[in-house]
Amino acid sequence: MLNECLAQAQEQAEQDPSRPMFHFRAPAQWMNDPNGTIYHNGYYHLFYQFNPYQAKWGQIHWGHARSRDLVHWEHLPIALTPSAELGEEHCFSGCAYLGEQQTPILFYTSIGRRLPEQWAAVGDTDWIAWQKIAENPFLKMADHHGIHVEDWRDPFVFQAGERTFMTLGGKIAHDSVAVIYEKGKDAFSWTYQGVLFRHPDAALHSLECPNFFPLGDKWVLLDSPYGPVDCFIGDFDLETLNFTPESQHLADYSKQFYATNLYHDDNGRWILVGWIRDFEQPRGWNGCLSLPRELSIGADGRLRQRPIPGLQQLRGEHFRIEAEELSKSRRIAMRMPGQQAEIFGQFDLRDARIFSLNIGHASDEQPALAISYDGRTLDVAGIAVPLSLAEDRHLLTLHIFIDRSVMEVFVNNGRACVTRVVALPDDAAITLFADGAANVAQFELWEMRAIWPPARE
Ligand code: FRU
Repeated sequence: MLNECLAQAQEQAEQDPSRPMFHFRAPAQWMNDPNGTIYHNGYYHLFYQFNPYQAKWGQIHWGHARSRDLVHWEHLPIALTPSAELGEEHCFSGCAYLGEQQTPILFYTSIGRRLPEQWAAVGDTDWIAWQKIAENPFLKMADHHGIHVEDWRDPFVFQAGERTFMTLGGKIAHDSVAVIYEKGKDAFSWTYQGVLFRHPDAALHSLECPNFFPLGDKWVLLDSPYGPVDCFIGDFDLETLNFTPESQHLADYSKQFYATNLYHDDNGRWILVGWIRDFEQPRGWNGCLSLPRELSIGADGRLRQRPIPGLQQLRGEHFRIEAEELSKSRRIAMRMPGQQAEIFGQFDLRDARIFSLNIGHASDEQPALAISYDGRTLDVAGIAVPLSLAEDRHLLTLHIFIDRSVMEVFVNNGRACVTRVVALPDDAAITLFADGAANVAQFELWEMRAIWPPARE
């Protein structure tokens, strides 16, 4: 039944010309959050929220894949299936952890009974077969000594000094919170330690998928608040186990990027991935993973996100526009060689009132999508990003990845990110336009190769 369902959807998915070709996605059907992102023994493992039966949310399993470079992926058997005989309906989001003797452990939220519970599963030495432990739940609501955490879910483990902690998202009374637990004698003993972080927005429904990690000499908390992913940067007090944020901004300005997770690899890199959502149906598939983004903190104390350099291996044919002046009467247009492209553009906007990069039919006045800047706000296909170029010598840098129906835009060296689900015409052209004068300092485009086999005829 499962294999039939998947095979049928796969056939439909493979014929869909809008399906991303260099983003990770499930073999077919529905996927949402990345889970259990961990680097071990030369592999980046990816688990993800997966409904193998339909291209919509439901019957949530954990899909599994692995990669040597975070660019090419190998699908592996489903890791977690809801245990109906134990009253389990869904295996919600969570993380992976290396226990004693390098035993791989998955921590996740089990849904099906009156209240959510935190469960664990242990993998074999090949990380293929996963066994839920007999002691489940390893954490239950009663472990909070009378405190009720609404929407309690999405375990995330982190290390601080010699100590190991877990955080989960939810709501206590009217506050959206990340709660904290400390590991005891073994990987399945955790003690509630209180509230790590209280979200400043009292109107939030709740907070999902908290990620908490050290970056530079700061701590970063990312959360998914039923809207664009939040980023808080501040300090973590190991005595009180409180996180005090000093700044708040958005990790991505679009809510089409959601429910993040992180890799910490043996090069010490922190790499962020998120779920991309909102694809029109029916297509036989629904959802994909964002491109991996390497994180750092900029001189302004804000998060920087850059696409991992490894993506450059997908670059194919190369096109460029030599330095040119743009003005109202002088546009520049370039045909897109296909629907998979990486674009790197740098524009000097000192004398421009408006600048715009449009993608659509070359002849159309109404482009399929536009990225435009008016001196204050960058509009990325309908998403507004407040942006001052004063500290960047009036240079606007756009690093854009277009993968058929997905566009990811990195602005000025990763100062801001915007993810969009898009629809492009077959014969798209890029047009650069300025009101006033603008200088194209750099404009390069690469065709991007697919990481997946081409559609079957
Ligand atoms: C975020 C989320 C998580 C939950 C999972 C269920 O998208 O709602 O909080 O664990 O999806 O699929």
